[in-house]
Amino acid sequence: MSNFLKDYSGKKILVTGHTGFKGAWLARILVLAGAEVYGLALAAETNSLFSLAGDLGIKESTILDIRDRNKVDSYFATHTFDGVFHLAAQPLVRRSYKEPVETFDTNVMGTAHVLNAALTHKATKWAVVITTDKVYRNVEKLGGYTEDEPLGGKDPYSASKAATEMVVSAWQTIASHSDEKIAICSARAGNVIGGGDTAEDRLIPDLIRSFHAGVKTVIRNPQSIRPWQHVLDPLNGYLAMGSALMAHKGISRAYNFGPGEESKLTVEQMAEFACTQWVGAKGIDIHVDSSAVHEAGLLWLSSELAAKELGWSNRFEAREAIAWTIEWEKASMITSPLSALDEQIQKFYGVKP
Ligand SMILES: NC(=O)c1ccc[n+]([C@@H]2O[C@H](COP(=O)([O-])OP(=O)(O)OC[C@H]3O[C@@H](n4cnc5c(N)ncnc54)[C@H](O)[C@@H]3O)[C@@H](O)[C@H]2O)c1
Repeated sequence: MSNFLKDYSGKKILVTGHTGFKGAWLARILVLAGAEVYGLALAAETNSLFSLAGDLGIKESTILDIRDRNKVDSYFATHTFDGVFHLAAQPLVRRSYKEPVETFDTNVMGTAHVLNAALTHKATKWAVVITTDKVYRNVEKLGGYTEDEPLGGKDPYSASKAATEMVVSAWQTIASHSDEKIAICSARAGNVIGGGDTAEDRLIPDLIRSFHAGVKTVIRNPQSIRPWQHVLDPLNGYLAMGSALMAHKGISRAYNFGPGEESKLTVEQMAEFACTQWVGAKGIDIHVDSSAVHEAGLLWLSSELAAKELGWSNRFEAREAIAWTIEWEKASMITSPLSALDEQIQKFYGVKP
């Protein structure tokens, strides 16, 4: 077991967004680490990892809309935790164009409701708020963005997450003036891949859907370079933050958890590699979409702070991340999604489910 995972044994931890992709993985890691895990989110989509996995071993799963301030307040008035990982969000750029106000409501005010209620009711000792690499003002620079660079965000999703960072900053200040010294930090990572992601408009879920359907996968932006990272790598970073907070180490206010330089591959390179991993894959079909809505160009993170202060580093490079994702898909068909989750968590951390 990774030396910090044992810090969670017996701890009461809330994961908001536990019915989502990253949240389900994180909740299961915490359950296997021996934590008492609580979840707070909207109901799971029928084909989501949370629904497919069945029983993740969560102590209490609460369906609650974080836009509803009163309900969030009542929840924290009746629950206390050692720590909170706040992942609940509207995380899709394209949906944020169709539903900008809802995206801001959930990502910005939802986070304010959670932090305010947690602080008011002294309901937790620390909170790690998950934002994204898209919080930085993208000036198309080549080197990695560091945590102190200006925030920005052109599209509604990125702007809402930059505003989430402002919420974190404000409640850090409020917490520092309150009697209860609740530590609040943010974690910034980019797009991740991994088993069980069924989101719309993401390359790997699109490829896997095409593999199952026996058709070619349509690729929109073949030459775009994306930061490919396996979900376990940033989750490991979030857990390292929680562990440092539990040890009362003076940690920074925000950390980047980006993929390494070796993971800079184009969409086309990744799609072609994925096809080599699936027997019978029909390949890709390139359709350049000139009417596509604006998505930020390549934005690379420097993760030196996380390496220096938390001892964090990526375990996977891009092709290994794809291979693990496709391996998960195959294993989940042979055994079950839950067994596939457990097997990969066990392999990553050396924990016995
Ligand atoms: N998946 C990625 O590649 C990626 C990249 C960068 C950042 N993130 C961030 O990580 C977090 C998790 O992302 P994900 O990919 O697992 O997303 P997801 O869509 O799979 O899950 C989102 C979760 O948030 C919950 N949620 C949404 N609106 C809510 C509301 N109004 N009230 C309560 N719960 C609500 C959903 O029920 C779900 O549990 C998000 O904060 C996202 O912005 C994800």
